[in-house]
Parts: sequence; C-alpha cells; structure tokens
Amino acid sequence: MILGIETSCDETAAALVTDDGRIRANVVASQADLHARFGGVVPEVASRRHLELVTPVIREALAMADATLGDVDRVAVTRGPGLIGALLVGVAAAKAIAWSRHLPLVPVDHLEGHVAALYLEPDPVEPPFLCLLASGGHTMLLDVRAHGEHELLGTTLDDAAGEAFDKGARLLGLGYPGGREIDRLAREGDPDAYAFPVARVPGLDFSFSGLKTALLYAVRDLAPDELARRRADLAASYQRAIVRALAGRVRAAAEQTGAERIAVVGGVAANSELRASLPGAALAPLALCTDNAAMIASAARFAEPVAYPGYLGLDAYASR
Ligand code: KG4
Ligand code: ZN
Repeated sequence: MILGIETSCDETAAALVTDDGRIRANVVASQADLHARFGGVVPEVASRRHLELVTPVIREALAMADATLGDVDRVAVTRGPGLIGALLVGVAAAKAIAWSRHLPLVPVDHLEGHVAALYLEPDPVEPPFLCLLASGGHTMLLDVRAHGEHELLGTTLDDAAGEAFDKGARLLGLGYPGGREIDRLAREGDPDAYAFPVARVPGLDFSFSGLKTALLYAVRDLAPDELARRRADLAASYQRAIVRALAGRVRAAAEQTGAERIAVVGGVAANSELRASLPGAALAPLALCTDNAAMIASAARFAEPVAYPGYLGLDAYASR
C-alpha cells in the first residue's frame, strides 16, 4: 500500500491507495473556513494549520483503511508546486515516516497528481488523452501520452481559471473558495444577462484577467441594492464566460491533436456547467477533483521511488 500526503495549499490530506489503484482511505481536512475571512489562503496560517493537522489526518487515514504503518510499502508526498511553507510540512512528515520504517519515498508533482486522479479505480482512464487541468493555481492543456508523461499544449497567460472564479466571487461578495459559490448561485441566474468577453489569445493558451476586469466594471456601476438583485445574473454570466473559454480551447486542442478522448481534472473540474458542456469527457469524481492525497498516491504508482535514506535531503519547490 502507498501512503499519500498532500499539503501544497489549504487542504491537509492523507490517503492509502493500493498498487493497483484502489482507494482504501482518502482523508481531506480543509482549512477553507480558517482562510475565508481573509478572502484567500494566508500562507503562514496554512503552514501552521498543516502542522497541527498532518499527524491526526494520517492517523485517521490508517484507521479508515484498518491498517497500520506496517502495511505501508512506500510513502508519496507532494513536493511542489504550491506554498513553500505548506509543502515543507508534508515533505517533513513523509520523510519522518519513511525514514522511521526504512521505506522508499516518492516525491510527486502536484500537477501530475491531478492527472493521476484519473488512474484510480473503479473507473480508471487510460492514456493517451487530452487533459484540461484547471485548478486554483494552474490552467493547462496537456497531451497525456502515457502515465506520468505529457506535453504542455497551452497554459494561462495570467490568472488560473480557479483564480478567476475566486476573484470573481470576491467581487460579488461571495465566500471563499469562490468556485463552488458561483457554481451554486449561477443556477438561479441568467447566463445571457451580461456579455462578458472571452479572451482571444493566439494558440491554445488562456487569459482570464480581462474577464475579471469586466466583472469589476459591471459591479462598480451597480448600487448595493441593485447588485444584490443582479448577483445571480452576474455569477451565471461570469461562469458562462469562463466555461466557454475552457471548453472552446479543449475543443480546438482536440481538433488540432486528433485526440479521441478528453479528460478534465483539478478543482474547476467540479464545476457543474463545465462538466455539462463537455459531454463524453472523462471527469474525475468530484471528491478527486479538488486537492486530495489519493491522487498523489496514484501518481506515485508511476513515478520513481527514492530509496531509504537518500530522500532526507529532498527539498520542496514553490513553482516548476
Ligand atoms: O485543485 P484545487 O483544489 O487546488 C489547487 O491546486 O489550486 O482547486 C481549487 C480551485 C479553487 O479556485 C476553487 O474555487 C475551484 O477550484 N473550484 C471550483 C469549483 N469547486 C472548486 N470552480 C468552479 N466550480 C466549482 N464547483
Ligand atoms: Zn490542486
């Protein structure tokens, strides 16, 4: 069994996954409430919370799997990209556990982890496929050729799609994280009420900063009571623009590469309109879209382990 640990942002997560991709336990302790009043993740607060949560979360995962550390064959941990202080908590915990049991350690790239969410049972997706990875920190189109092997076809030139959701939610006076809030409110609104722009960027790249500015202007022009009345319409129109940009690029990339299969992963893959707008696409289950450790353990199945005790000097990285 693989013990996966993920602490790259504001979720403290541990999971136990078998070598053939079955999830025995998947525990996620979200810190969202802790950061909500700041309207976003406060890195130092996140690190301190990870420190408090990482051991109980690992214990809970073991208990859920009815296992002990004696059942663990290797330890997988997110090494980056993410908040450096947050990452270091997970990396230190993983090193300590692996070292104490003389186990190998598998450093995992968080983005590889998101893709590897697709490789888990009961409905694993096999490469090759075209993959949209849309999270709070990244928006990428990947040509996935094999497990752990891909080519980057496009990326965002400014904000990530999840960031656009979060910043939009903030402008609308909604809570954090904003994606889920906009998703919910958009169901009550008219997506055609506002004509928000879809950026025209060459190639297969994305851009969301102009859209965010358009929403800012729309909100600024409204009196408070008017904003309250139009909030659902704004949310629906804003979401429609993000989804159009994402789905449009996915279709263009599929045409260019001749990809027969499309997959969508990352926190934004939980968006109901995006899911509906790409019929036939392979979608990670909702619980595996947002950050979790099962996807990290899954990626470790296809990555090179570092033997005991060679990993003690291993460092985290904030960006690729
Ligand atoms: O993958 P993830 O959990 O963390 C990162 O690696 O960034 O993604 C978090 C992002 C946040 O920006 C959040 O607002 C967005 O995913 N998100 C959503 C939904 N659920 C989460 N965006 C749109 N609709 C959703 N239902
Ligand atoms: Zn993520």
